[in-house]
Amino acid sequence: MGLPCAGPFFCLWTGMAGILISPSILSADFASLGQEIRAIDAAGADFIHVDVMDGHFVPNLTIGPPVVKALRAHTDKPFDVHLMIAPVDPFIAAFAEAGADILTVHPEAGPHTHRTLQAIRAAGMKPGISLNPGSPAVLAEPLVDEVDLILVMSVNPGFGGQKFISSQLRKIEQLRTMIDATGRDIHLEVDGGVTPETARQCVDAGATVLVAGSAVFKGGPEQYKTNIENLRPKRFI
Ligand code: DX5
Ligand code: ZN
Repeated sequence: MGLPCAGPFFCLWTGMAGILISPSILSADFASLGQEIRAIDAAGADFIHVDVMDGHFVPNLTIGPPVVKALRAHTDKPFDVHLMIAPVDPFIAAFAEAGADILTVHPEAGPHTHRTLQAIRAAGMKPGISLNPGSPAVLAEPLVDEVDLILVMSVNPGFGGQKFISSQLRKIEQLRTMIDATGRDIHLEVDGGVTPETARQCVDAGATVLVAGSAVFKGGPEQYKTNIENLRPKRFI
């Protein structure tokens, strides 16, 4: 499945200017996940963000490959799978088989992230890395050539509905500079506490993809389109 390109201003692949919105299904109705995915797809989601937690790397448990596989039939949009698990390597093949498009891992979950990223690409997915709020941008430097996406956690991972940590804006700027220096098409994604207001700040700092759970799913399905539109800074619509 082709991914929209990462340029924040104009995409030569799709001819679209825009910021991509990746709704986190952590805030969806888990009793009706297939229906929820179809609703956010129809409402204009660009990616579908799937938060995978193991109760060990983060203090919460969610879903794994069988659920991703079951959801695959409900949308053609790329599955942006955020792994908050340790270890990662034993599950790479299962996520590829389940239909994940982007597989993002935390270097903090270690120990051999460089090898893990190569294994993700070899399995046919786009590799991403995610940095916790307490991790510096420089952690991404030795890995940047291996990734198609860098995710900045703007809350501590584990739960939806937390408050945006503003100190992460500086890290987004630093990563934007790092990405631009590569000349490669690498998405810069922000996850946690994204609202229409913080979305603008993230985009100003250089983000190209915004993950949002509570801000997309609040108000129920009739609100999803408006909620998604409200997250795209006006100059990108
Ligand atoms: C947190 C997850 C996020 C979270 C975002 O560990 O990675 O994707 O669901 O939820 P909101 O947008 O409510 O902060
Ligand atoms: Zn996430």
